[in-house]
Amino acid sequence: MAQRAGPAGFTRQPVEHAHDLACDGVSLASIAAAEGTPIYVYSARTLRDRYREIDGAFAGYPHALHYALKANSTLAIARLLRELGSAVDANSVWEIEVARRAGFEPSQIVFTGVGKSPDELERAVAMGLKAINVESAGELARIEAIAARLGHVARVAVRFNPDIDAKSHPHISTGLKINKFGVPLDDARALAQTLPGRPALKLVAVHVHVGSQITSLDPLRRAAAVAADFSIDLREQGLPLEYIDLGGGLGVSYDGAGVPAVSDYVSALVGEVRRTSLPIVLEPGRAIAAPAGVLVARVIDVKPRTASSHFVIIDAGMTELIRPALYNAFHRIEPVSGPEAGDCQYEIVGPVCESSDVVGRDRRLPRLAAGDLVAIRDAGAYGSVMASNYNRRPLPAEVLVDDGTWRVIRRRQTVDDQLVLET
Ligand SMILES: Cc1ncc(COP(=O)(O)O)c(C=O)c1O
Repeated sequence: MAQRAGPAGFTRQPVEHAHDLACDGVSLASIAAAEGTPIYVYSARTLRDRYREIDGAFAGYPHALHYALKANSTLAIARLLRELGSAVDANSVWEIEVARRAGFEPSQIVFTGVGKSPDELERAVAMGLKAINVESAGELARIEAIAARLGHVARVAVRFNPDIDAKSHPHISTGLKINKFGVPLDDARALAQTLPGRPALKLVAVHVHVGSQITSLDPLRRAAAVAADFSIDLREQGLPLEYIDLGGGLGVSYDGAGVPAVSDYVSALVGEVRRTSLPIVLEPGRAIAAPAGVLVARVIDVKPRTASSHFVIIDAGMTELIRPALYNAFHRIEPVSGPEAGDCQYEIVGPVCESSDVVGRDRRLPRLAAGDLVAIRDAGAYGSVMASNYNRRPLPAEVLVDDGTWRVIRRRQTVDDQLVLET
């Protein structure tokens, strides 16, 4: 549907009603009127800007961005990233399938994941990916057996666990020894040393990822320094690498608090890795996709909660966006029309039969009434991908706004879609 082009991202501007929230100049209210709610709306311009900002920050240092599909793997978004020149990080064979259908070549895919099944490994080895990021000695042995049987040489990267605290939410911190991810550094060294005698395997990189939504550069820089040291040791032992994979993890500002600038983040990583002369692979997910999406929902009901606050029950909840219920994550919530802030105290909750189905606690907003639209901001990453059918709720529709036009990139699921799998 064509509309005039406007400013990038999600802005308030006079559309039909004064100060409606718009996406790249297209009114969110008009999209909700046409397609219903709950609905994810993505800004193509923001996706491009975020990708290009990270890419450009390398300022000529050799690198490859492997967008982390786990953040948002809707086909149209994967395609958009491919057109920008991105490669991908896939976390399951099903994400690999989506990547292939989005047009990515096997040589553009790295495969991570702490528990890759034998079937997944078989398909990954047969495909000949850029690398399988290996999480244990056992997994390496399984890859080797498959590759030897198929007569292939599997390209592998060892994911080491640096025992670094990312100081993120415990559910999304991955770099501590007590976390299930990767191989402890000493074991990773020992594992790498076995590679020369294993002709079905080629060690191409070391890999580290210490967590997600990291808001301080220190853990990211320290992990990069360890990766650089490790790769130099390996080269001295006759194991030259092709690149260093530093994972993803850069946080975004959900609440307006400061987060590291992309340029500082990339300079910190390049500063640590430059002495190796190796290209850097990065796997950013959230930093690209989160600010590019909102979840638009409609108010179903408003009812008293305490003497001074009300519940606002909306038609989106933990089934569409589980982050608040799962991590106590904060997302800004604004009315789509009218001013963004006000004096009413609200507990914004979803319709699901769980008391944890709270989308926003203790919010101060203008007066809301049944039928009003609200936008849940920065929901482009780890939103739609984590949606579920709990309570038989259908997966929401998704819309991409691009250059003043919008289109449905995933239609709303129906009960028939759900039941087609059942007898
Ligand atoms: C191995 C790996 N790479 C990349 C990412 C993407 O992280 P983020 O979305 O924080 O950039 C993740 C997510 O946790 C991951 O586990």
